[in-house]
Amino acid sequence: MTAPAIVHTISALRAALAPLRAGGIAMVPTMGALHDGHLSLVRLAEAPAVVVSIFVNPTQFAPHEDFDAYPRDLERDIAALAGTGREILVFAPGAREMYPDGFATTVTVGGPGAGLETDFRPHFFSGVATVVAKLLLAALPDTAIFGEKDYQQLLVIRRLAADLSLPTRIIGAPIAREADGLALSSRNAYLDGRARQVAGNLNKVLKDVIARAHETGDLRDAERYGAETLKAVGFDSVDYVAIRDAETLAVAGTLDRPARVLAAARIGRTRLIDNMAL
Ligand code: PAJ
Repeated sequence: MTAPAIVHTISALRAALAPLRAGGIAMVPTMGALHDGHLSLVRLAEAPAVVVSIFVNPTQFAPHEDFDAYPRDLERDIAALAGTGREILVFAPGAREMYPDGFATTVTVGGPGAGLETDFRPHFFSGVATVVAKLLLAALPDTAIFGEKDYQQLLVIRRLAADLSLPTRIIGAPIAREADGLALSSRNAYLDGRARQVAGNLNKVLKDVIARAHETGDLRDAERYGAETLKAVGFDSVDYVAIRDAETLAVAGTLDRPARVLAAARIGRTRLIDNMAL
């Protein structure tokens, strides 16, 4: 098994990718603290060469959020990537490499980027869109793989790639889950015993919301039921439970078109998100 090579600068990344380009390059952008969800994206890559970026992006965290506490362990991440048996190049830039002095450009995506997460984390998607645009332009991969775990983010990135005519095909990957259905997330590390147990209900409640929406056809009632049930099972607050068009994230009135239920809820200071197709 070959250990992943690591580069820290955009010029070194481009130099390392040049000889691999003809065979095809896939990219998996991450913030590290890699778990099986991230590794499932790496395994989905069809290209022989996979670039995994590891960068805890400061611009997508608000000042009160967990940027400083966010788990970081590059050595462990590299060992996990070596275990996939894939030919991997790790791009681990420092903050100055991505945001040099005088940096003054922000990429903002409307459409699917409006509402839901944006209502609670107003600067989040401009931080994500800016860094993902930079990462894709740095590597110019043939494909880039993003998880459906962050469903709104996936749609924002699809929109970004289409609108900026990026030469990269965006691929959505299914959500990897724990045995009780909890979506794998680096932030699950914050959950202690009781909180972890409560967290395992999020996916179950979403399944109940889906069953109720199909039964009654009253989507707003199903959303309200979901929010109330999450509080009843121990979530401290619920940011949203929303049934939306699966492609545009417009409010779904009926289930004639593909729809998705999306939720965000908090246990203490930990904020969890999940979503499912209806
Ligand atoms: P991060 O949270 O590290 O996630 C990196 C990628 O892994 C994202 O595409 C995310 O959707 C995917 N992922 C996380 N948990 C998953 C799971 N349980 N199943 C499947 N995929 C999962 O998302 C980000 O980083 C950042 O916003 C980033 C896009 C890297 C920009 O900074």
